[in-house]
Amino acid sequence: MTVNKRIVLSSDHAAIELRQTIAKHIAELGWEVVDIGPTTPESTHYPKHGKAAALQVASGDCQFGIILCGTGQGIMMAANKVAGIRCGVCSDTFSARMIRAHNDANMLSIGVRVVGEGLALDIVDAFLATDFEGGRHATRVDMIEGPSE
Ligand code: RB5
Repeated sequence: MTVNKRIVLSSDHAAIELRQTIAKHIAELGWEVVDIGPTTPESTHYPKHGKAAALQVASGDCQFGIILCGTGQGIMMAANKVAGIRCGVCSDTFSARMIRAHNDANMLSIGVRVVGEGLALDIVDAFLATDFEGGRHATRVDMIEGPSE
């Protein structure tokens, strides 16, 4: 995995404010933030924003991606269509730790209509503070990308 302490952020129109709050928070933690918007509140389409962020992670330009929409679900589905992306939606800190520890997730998705700001920031912290455990989990993660038997 690329280790460059750079995180790409994106969302749809529903989650601009929370995305900007997360951007400020992770910048204060020392991460370089690549916020690819959008910045204006017009209705937009979450798939293009999810895919745009995912491409930056898949290319190695960014170590991680954090994406948001109303539920976190649609934008996660779009991101996971990009080869090499492992993105999970999290509404709790346990899941945020586990998608790093066991699934080597390189993207995190959050639903702005599901969790409040305080919990969202805790979820981000849990995701960023957890390393992949490797071992038997690496075998399984490899199976996501390759043959499943
Ligand atoms: C937009 O209204 C909403 O559909 C979107 O933010 C997201 O929840 C989709 O999964």
